[in-house]
Amino acid sequence: MVAPLKVGIAGLGTVGAEVIRLIETQARVLAGRSGRGIRVVAVTARSKAKKRNIDLRGVEWAKDPLALATHPEVDCFVELMGGAGDPALSAVEAALNAGKSVVTANKALLAKHGLKLAKAAEKHGGALNFEAAVGAAIPVIKTLREGLAGTGINRVYGILNGTCNYILTRMEQEGLSFAECLKDAQRLGYAEANPSFDVDGHDTAQKLAILASLAFGTKVAQSAVYVEGISSIAPEDLRAAADLGYRVKLLGVAVRTAKGIEQRVHPTMVPKTSSIAQVMGVTNAVTIDGEGIPPITLVGPGAGGAATASAVVADIADVARGIRANPFGRPIAQLRDTKKAPMERHEGGYYIRLLARDFPGTAAAIATRLAEQKISIESIVQRHPNGGAAPANGKAVPVPVILITYATHEDAVRRALAAVQKDKVISGRPQVIRIEKN
Ligand SMILES: NC(=O)c1ccc[n+]([C@@H]2O[C@H](COP(=O)([O-])OP(=O)(O)OC[C@H]3O[C@@H](n4cnc5c(N)ncnc54)[C@H](OP(=O)(O)O)[C@@H]3O)[C@@H](O)[C@H]2O)c1
Repeated sequence: MVAPLKVGIAGLGTVGAEVIRLIETQARVLAGRSGRGIRVVAVTARSKAKKRNIDLRGVEWAKDPLALATHPEVDCFVELMGGAGDPALSAVEAALNAGKSVVTANKALLAKHGLKLAKAAEKHGGALNFEAAVGAAIPVIKTLREGLAGTGINRVYGILNGTCNYILTRMEQEGLSFAECLKDAQRLGYAEANPSFDVDGHDTAQKLAILASLAFGTKVAQSAVYVEGISSIAPEDLRAAADLGYRVKLLGVAVRTAKGIEQRVHPTMVPKTSSIAQVMGVTNAVTIDGEGIPPITLVGPGAGGAATASAVVADIADVARGIRANPFGRPIAQLRDTKKAPMERHEGGYYIRLLARDFPGTAAAIATRLAEQKISIESIVQRHPNGGAAPANGKAVPVPVILITYATHEDAVRRALAAVQKDKVISGRPQVIRIEKN
């Protein structure tokens, strides 16, 4: 009879507590699937006294995460505290250096120190599993690392932050502003009191950096990701997108180009008919474009205690089975340096919304500036307020003009819009949203 795998868990919050429950309630199923039992032998968190509604009888309380990580009884150290620094970093490093296997859901730690940690795992022979770090219950890490090991990958993109997708969904469906929807998201517990990490795109960027490394065999590097958040999106953008057959999503996109691997996070117009456009509310989704196969889209809950615990426990089960994959899909020596493709050279279609001053020659002036940069226009819509009737006070009011361009370079768009602003034919700043075709 094979001895049970002995697990130590640091962090007993939303995810940690669910992991303890799942290991207990699924004990028989897990033992059957893994070929051996899984036993939690020791745990730790900040406060031993806190009421947690989990049964910790017979489980040792380690004095701190480092002591737990190097505990002689622990075979597999599970880090569920969060944060890119200590104690998560030093504890995970210590466990790996001691030859133990590590399971973590910590995207911040992996995006910043993933390479160093993978090196320690490789050197000392332990596994480093992190399925829950991206898309929680969606098995996207395994899909890229193992399921598609024989397939070249051209692009991977997804909705990786439920808070942003919830806000954009409400804005689209109810015509509400970004600020109103953010307030609701905070009230419902979908957004933090300080929402910047989510709505400014940094959470998505950390997850994208991990996916890009797995997809393209490059060293994980959050600094290589271009990031824009969703706070500038207005309800009129979502209405215009709908009229033109698109939806706006905050996407993380990693794509192979002639200039290197583009890694970018920004509000994106996607065709309404695409799989990713159907994903509403807090749900996450990832689409993988592999060579020779139609795109694969994985959809599911990207957060929550139970959903995240499902992936954490699956990773623990792999350790129990004795499965050890290279953390980023290849031996460290084969991971290439990440060459950051400059955003100015990004090529694609663009949605541009301008507030044109309503006097003769405005449209021609805008068209000239775009033509100077060799930008071709796929469609143009001018929305006269009051159906074009003269305003009661006789004063000219700005007219929204919405343009969709054919594929062009980002620096051409930036130059053309700078010239349009200099011409003083528009009010305010132009709104620009990149288009991603499926
Ligand atoms: N929640 C999700 O939906 C979700 C989804 C995907 C991934 N994740 C990742 O899962 C990890 C855990 O998230 P969570 O939501 O469970 O966090 P959480 O509810 O805030 O729980 C964090 C736990 O870590 C403990 N902890 C924090 N600092 C510590 C320290 N210095 N020493 C010892 N223990 C410490 C806390 O102890 P106390 O309880 O005593 O305060 C708490 O038990 C994070 O990396 C997160 O990014 C979470």
